[in-house]
Amino acid sequence: MFFQIPLVTALAASSLASASTLRRARQHDHGHGTPDPEFCSGGCTDVHDPNIIRKDGLYYRFTSFHNIAIATAESLSGPWEYQGALLEDGTMIQVTEDQNIWGPNVQKVGDTFYAYYSVSKMGFQGSDIGVATSSTLDPGSWTDHGSVGLPMSSFYNLIDPSLLQSGDTNYLTFGSYWHGIYQTTLPDPPLMYDNEEPWNLAYNSSVNAAVWEAAFIFQWEGWFFLFYSAGECCRQPPDLAAPGDEYRIQVCRSSSTTGPYYDRSGRDCVTENGGTLVIGSHGDVYAPGGQGIIVDEESGWPLIYYHYRSLTRDCS
Ligand SMILES: *[C@@H]1O[C@H](CO)[C@@H](O)[C@H](O)[C@H]1NC(C)=O
Repeated sequence: MFFQIPLVTALAASSLASASTLRRARQHDHGHGTPDPEFCSGGCTDVHDPNIIRKDGLYYRFTSFHNIAIATAESLSGPWEYQGALLEDGTMIQVTEDQNIWGPNVQKVGDTFYAYYSVSKMGFQGSDIGVATSSTLDPGSWTDHGSVGLPMSSFYNLIDPSLLQSGDTNYLTFGSYWHGIYQTTLPDPPLMYDNEEPWNLAYNSSVNAAVWEAAFIFQWEGWFFLFYSAGECCRQPPDLAAPGDEYRIQVCRSSSTTGPYYDRSGRDCVTENGGTLVIGSHGDVYAPGGQGIIVDEESGWPLIYYHYRSLTRDCS
């Protein structure tokens, strides 16, 4: 079996119109083979690229835009309550005018929380990845350290950072455009790039291949699962991406953090265009992506959460 992760519970934090959700998949498969998410309560709309971590019984959710919005909830299904911005005064990184702060990823290393974020705008390749630290996660407690100092490259865009601690090493996975997902290591403390040349983790070399981005590596039972989003993420009605081109969640798996990663049918995810679909559009869910994984305290199972556009709910 390729999927050691029982994807039986899905949490979805929605894009713009709909809701975050928590659901037992096996009980709620409405014939399209993919678990329907369950709506969450509270602040669950205008949510992009959610990243959730738990501290002292409270869930903290970080999302793109608004200088990284922080919301908390006692349960993954809500009610989520907005607490404030992570970077209250914005970032010290300046890459372009009308830039935005995207794709937060928060990890605890030692006693400190590290929040990685990207600074970019749509269609812009001069992006950068920054980091801020806190000892509590709460708004007002964060110190911005600015750019991590990763080198720019014509092969990738410096967006969608995600840190994974494995053994004694901090691995930073990032990117999209134009050659897929990349990874490098960061020293301890993981604040500044240390000249370890980034390597490619996943790439589709096919003509007209979809963009791959928003990687999140989840370690489970000795395997590393590289989840990422493929396709067009963010178009709004009436210009939604055509069915087939829209965002979807895929996965590759490796026995090592650094790869090689393979898909379900054994294709290498860098050299053989491998990649297995996990969650695509289904039911009311359109263009799911920006996913993350968290282990549900109650069941002990990994949960996948993601944003999507609702096809039926009022989208404004
Ligand atoms: C790679 O791109 C091709 C062309 O768009 C597509 O048909 C294929 O499904 C993609 N492979 C993966 C793993 O996403």
